[in-house]
Amino acid sequence: MQERPAGYSGAAKWLHWIMAIIVLGLIPMGIALDKLPEGPIQDRAYNLHRSFGILVLALAIARVIFRRAYGAPAPYAGLTKFERIASTAVHHSLYVLIFLVPIAGWLWMSTYRAEVSIFGLFILPNLLPQNETLSGFFGGAHKALALLMAALLIAHAGGALMHAFVKRDGVLHRMLPDAWGPALDRLQSALGRPNRS
Ligand code: HEM
Repeated sequence: MQERPAGYSGAAKWLHWIMAIIVLGLIPMGIALDKLPEGPIQDRAYNLHRSFGILVLALAIARVIFRRAYGAPAPYAGLTKFERIASTAVHHSLYVLIFLVPIAGWLWMSTYRAEVSIFGLFILPNLLPQNETLSGFFGGAHKALALLMAALLIAHAGGALMHAFVKRDGVLHRMLPDAWGPALDRLQSALGRPNRS
């Protein structure tokens, strides 16, 4: 079995935060899309949502390849048994959803036969022929899975912030690029004695 590294590598951390920023933008954008007035601004917003969604899929592939090659650290030593089981389940679910949500969107657009231009660079190939029933199914799946992802992200980010500012331990530090650690140290010290183990 592969030996587990002591911490996340710089590349794993940057991939995590770049993807977090994109996903946190895509979810409210997806909810707002059909509420925008029809016209060039809405068309542009649809194109950007689809392009960034496919970028998430590409980053997800990079992230899994990277994780398999370099591994990930064991869970934080100070976690309770419940925290360990719950956080591992949420991490695994998020890994599955960063694939399923964009793939369901891609299948939706393929069966709807909408031409998807990725940042104006190339046209996304269709995965399936046009089909109204399947298009309805994949559209529903894309939206439901994205909402599930939003709920898991609230739990995930809430848990990380609880560790950082209530327990004041070292969980959030594990995922922060090294240069950001001292700023979190100062915040934790301002709140009282940090409990880093
Ligand atoms: C928005 C999209 C996000 C996604 C898809 C995501 C996904 C993930 C995944 C899959 C892991 C496990 C990494 C691994 O072990 O290989 C992870 C770890 C982590 N995430 Fe996120 N995350 C997101 C946002 C956030 C936010 C907003 C925060 C903090 C406020 C956060 C804090 C953390 C921390 C601290 C860890 C490391 C936990 C540990 O192993 O101790 N994440 N994230």
